Amino acid sequence: MATIYLIGFMGAGKTEIGKVLGVKSGYDVIDMDDQIEKAENMQIKDIFNQFGEIYFRMKETEILKEIGVASSIVTTGGGVILKDENRQFLKENGTVVFLQCEPEVIVNRLKGDLTRPLIKEKSLSEIVDMYHARLPIYLECADIVIDTTNLTIEEATELIIERI
Ligand code: S3P
Repeated sequence: MATIYLIGFMGAGKTEIGKVLGVKSGYDVIDMDDQIEKAENMQIKDIFNQFGEIYFRMKETEILKEIGVASSIVTTGGGVILKDENRQFLKENGTVVFLQCEPEVIVNRLKGDLTRPLIKEKSLSEIVDMYHARLPIYLECADIVIDTTNLTIEEATELIIERI
């Protein structure tokens, strides 16, 4: 099996679905944000606070490349698709699965979340705008699109297994 990259907006369920997919497939699951936190020995929100987004994005690209192409499931951070370089790497090195989810559901899940630096000072409509700005990029990068809006984590995982 080629590496499976799960991409999608914050709150789309990448981490949770990745975990279940790992159990069902028997493949290792590597979470990019966890790897960045380990490498920096800091939480994502503190990396943003202390060093800023540009630094975080640099680390994100480094980790993406370090993880390499071992057969595994990689749960990415929602912004990994923002750089051309990252998109090219994803496309060349695995199967890219976009977990789509309607923005109304996403903003509900993200309400009150203080761990995600990019949304903590945004209004719900600003988060929806950000979702719409990113949507074409996720779609362009994806080999497979799974709409998780009305699915449980189990159902979404089954659908991924059927499609890969
Ligand atoms: C980000 C998403 C986050 C994390 C960082 C930036 C983004 O990951 O990488 O806060 O730009 O969408 P999740 O998608 O796992 O929340």
